This record gives sequence, structure tokens and C-alpha cells, in this order.
Amino acid sequence: MPKPKIFITRAIAPEAIAKLTEVADVEVWPHEMPPPREVLLEHIKTSFGIITLLTDPIDASLIAAASQNLRVIAQMAVGFDNIDVTAASNRGIYIGHTPGVLTETTADFAWALMMAVGRRVVEGHHEVQQGIWRPWGPNVLTGQDIFGARLGLVGLGRIGQAVARRAIGFNMDILYHDLQRFPEAEKATGAQFVAFEELLERSDYVSLHTFMSPQNKFMMGQSEFACMKPNAIFINTARGGLVDPGALLWALQNRRIAGAGLDVFETEPIPMDHPLLKEPNLVMTPHIASASKQTRTRMALMAAENVLAAISGNRIPYCVNPEADSFSKGK
Ligand code: GLV
Repeated sequence: MPKPKIFITRAIAPEAIAKLTEVADVEVWPHEMPPPREVLLEHIKTSFGIITLLTDPIDASLIAAASQNLRVIAQMAVGFDNIDVTAASNRGIYIGHTPGVLTETTADFAWALMMAVGRRVVEGHHEVQQGIWRPWGPNVLTGQDIFGARLGLVGLGRIGQAVARRAIGFNMDILYHDLQRFPEAEKATGAQFVAFEELLERSDYVSLHTFMSPQNKFMMGQSEFACMKPNAIFINTARGGLVDPGALLWALQNRRIAGAGLDVFETEPIPMDHPLLKEPNLVMTPHIASASKQTRTRMALMAAENVLAAISGNRIPYCVNPEADSFSKGK
């Protein structure tokens, strides 16, 4: 029997590729830029499984072109809003993702942004680099305290909880808002459930940790930023589409908030003429919150594990659409 064909849309950790190569005919897209649509189309027609990244748009028309043979699309990310899951389920194609293994790394990074923005680390770096060494002065690069401040978490899932655990060490008062309550996490971290608006009004740091869906697009608009305190810092390591960039620009330019840290953008990459790029009280990074060497290896192995399970004829262990089962019987 010929080995099943697996296409991997980027050069992921070699350990993961090696495991797949033992049982499959593996092709890896070797470039840094994502494969163009024609390449995805070609592979979706011939592959048993595809490992994707969040920069690979797997929409309904692409899925419609898949062969009967395509069994699994294993996303190497926890989020999967680049994939039309309903279209995949209707064709009996499992969608995998990589929850859990990137939680702590992503929470670390939300903290990196909180601290960088709150304490104006990047502005200080630029001043030193450019020889603008102002004499030590009472008002030079004064930022916002983190220790003892109030943290508002929008979303208290895995990553939100990991951010909250770190906040205990900073003696922070923690508020959260979510679609559901998390009694265990409330007990463990002291996080208090409040309405979204109250969280925005009372928090010194507001950090987003929620999935993106059509319902919460631009959940941070002008009226939400207007609720925040003028000393507040806004952090987004979740998804860019949760924030209206025009509203954030308005809030920063009008000093409605003290600063922001963004790892994600509505359009990635953010266009070079975007006015947000000129804001001094904004720290930006290119969607790297889960980017530690260890975590990226764990994510690759987890994506491979999903594909290997499908090759063995089993339900994939980290599946976002178990309902695909009911459509897969004829396969
Ligand atoms: C990264 O953004 C992820 O969803 O894993």
C-alpha cells in the first residue's frame, strides 16, 4: 500500500517531520512565506493530511476541492479562525489544533508586553540607542506601576488563567470577564468575575485572552476604550480582529489610555503606512507570543500526533470538530 501523503505548509520542528516520515510520504513547503493558494489547492486534492499555520487560509472553496482521501487538517496553533471548520466537518475532515502546550509561553509574553509598555522599556531603549540620555530626573520616562495594580482579563481560559497566576506574584487585584464563570480559577487566583464594562472602567491593565469569532469582532471599539482609565494599559496577544484599530488609535492619540502592547493585528502584517506605527506609547511585536524554541517544538509534535492518529484510523486527540465523525463513515 502506498504511504499516505502529508503536506506541511512550513518547515516545522525536524523531530515532528521525522516522526511523520516513518509512516507517511511527507512534503514540506520550505519557504518562510506561506504557500500560495494554488499550492494549497494542489495538495488538498492529493493529501491525506495537511499541517497548517494560522497564516494559511483554509476556506470553504479550498475544502470543497479536497479529495475524498483528505482526513485531517492539523493546525499548528491553538487558534483556528483561518479554517472553515463547518465546511471541514461537513466533509468528515478532522481539524486539529495545539491547545495547552503554548499556554505558559503565551502568558509570559503577555507579561512581557505589560511590563514593556507599563514601564516604557522600548522608549527607554530607543533613547539610549539614539544618544538621548536625559539626566536622571523626576519625570523622565515615568510609567505605570504593575505591582499592586488591578489587572482585567478578558477571557479566563487556559492562557487567561496562566496570566492570572503570574499576577499573584505581583500582588495584583484581578478582575475577569468571560462567557462563563471559572470557580476553580477564581479560588486559585482571587480573580473576581465582573461585567465587561466594569472591567474596562476599573482595570489598570486590560489584557485580551479570548478566541476570535464573528460575534466578537471589534469587541474593543471607541466606546470600550472610552470606558478605560487614562492611566490604563491595553494588551492584545489574542487576535487582531478583536480590536478596532481606528478606535485604538483614537484612544492613544487622545490620551484616553496610557499605552498599548499588541502582538496581533487586524491585518498582518500591519501596513507600513498605518498611523498606529507612529504612536510612541505603543509596543508592537509580529505575532510571536508562543514563539519559544521549546514551545514551537511541542506544537509541531502535537500537530504531528494529530496526523499520526488519523493515519492509524483513530480519532485525533486534539480535535476541534468531533462532529466530523458523523460525516466520515463512508471514508
Ligand atoms: C497563535 O496565535 C495561536 O493561535 O496559537
